[in-house]
Amino acid sequence: MDLERKWYSLVYLTLIIAFVHLIFTFLFAHKLTLYNHKVRIKKQPELPLRFRSDGTFKILQVADMHYGNGLLTRCRDVLETEFEHCTDLNTTQFLRRLIEVEKPDFVAFTGDNIFGTSATDAAESLLEAFGPVLESGLPWAAVLGNHDQESTMSRRELMSFISLMDFSLSKTYPSDEDSEDSSMHYIDGFGNYNLEVLGALGSSFANCSVLNLYFLDSGDRATVNGIRTYGWIKESQLGWLRGVSNKFQGKCLDMKSVDISPAWLNPPALAFFHIPIPEIRQVPMKEIVGQYQEHAAVSIVNSGVFQSFTSMGNLKAVFIGHDHTNDFCGKLDSIWFCYGGGIGYHGYGRAGWPRRARIILAELAKGDRTWTGVERVTTWKRLDDGKLSRIDEHVLWDRYSSQ
Ligand SMILES: *[C@@H]1O[C@H](CO)[C@@H](O)[C@H](O)[C@H]1NC(C)=O
Ligand SMILES: *[C@@H]1O[C@H](CO)[C@@H](O)[C@H](O)[C@H]1NC(C)=O
Repeated sequence: MDLERKWYSLVYLTLIIAFVHLIFTFLFAHKLTLYNHKVRIKKQPELPLRFRSDGTFKILQVADMHYGNGLLTRCRDVLETEFEHCTDLNTTQFLRRLIEVEKPDFVAFTGDNIFGTSATDAAESLLEAFGPVLESGLPWAAVLGNHDQESTMSRRELMSFISLMDFSLSKTYPSDEDSEDSSMHYIDGFGNYNLEVLGALGSSFANCSVLNLYFLDSGDRATVNGIRTYGWIKESQLGWLRGVSNKFQGKCLDMKSVDISPAWLNPPALAFFHIPIPEIRQVPMKEIVGQYQEHAAVSIVNSGVFQSFTSMGNLKAVFIGHDHTNDFCGKLDSIWFCYGGGIGYHGYGRAGWPRRARIILAELAKGDRTWTGVERVTTWKRLDDGKLSRIDEHVLWDRYSSQ
């Protein structure tokens, strides 16, 4: 009898617990998921970066957005008739249209993404400035200019925020796996990293990087021997870059299953950073395409960036910003240096000279049956002139004519 009652009590208790559990699940579970909702998980782009099945890979370079507080931030250097209805949102609108029309595979931002002194909250400003690319879901990456850190975040904080944004491939230090490795922290600056673009699916190059994209932090400002000057790329960064460049010469990520001629095993590379190197100002450039309207605002320090670039051998073109009214490409030795030509309406510019952006197209060579490595890199620009005029198209590198 006593045992039977104990048994009933146990059954009742179990039922009560089950009932409470059910009530809890039905009534409160949605609240729990609401809590979960607050945990933001970064949206990843489709990876790896890879050439399309039509053998192309297209990059949109966006230089000097100079974003402030959006609707509240007025445009600079526009025609008097344009001034009244012009804000940061015009920059947003232009970027959105560029993405729609060009359908790039990747967007590269070369610094002064936000104009710190006009941005009340750096995080807000970054989210708005990169808004169109976040909406698009395209993979993208950014480096810093000399103005980004003038708001509420340091350069380190900016890069770490930017690398956590949706679809961003930006990195604060060269490689995520290495970020705990203290040696990486000896590399000057924030935002030095390499991105690999693999060959077309179904080709022997499907597991090989056939194009490397180097991103470098060119700093902000510094005082050297009592003289205020711009930042520069330091020897620690160049040492790292030479190592990366070396790593890719004669190698493929996966050599087991492929039979690749050595001629393809030195993939071309493109570099992206903000402040031009001193040679752009000091040495006459060759084959200029586009407009050279202002002196390059460079550092007084020459740290040997150009020598490093030429010694690497596989760096074919460099994309910079900083001087908004220069939009030319010019050659120094065998390396092209190309300005983006400012996109930002709150950055300085020239009234009547439309804001603009650069497009870079890499194309693969057709092998016997499938795509092989990169054959050619071309570039052009788009103007925010109402028609999105496409201008100054030319070849930057061709495997068969410029080796
Ligand atoms: C800025 O955007 C507004 C609204 O779309 C437009 O009316 C105006 O023409 C644009 N101004 C410039 C300079 O593009
Ligand atoms: C690339 O790697 C994948 C996965 O490891 C493999 O299935 C494929 O055969 C490789 N392709 C080539 C061309 O090596």
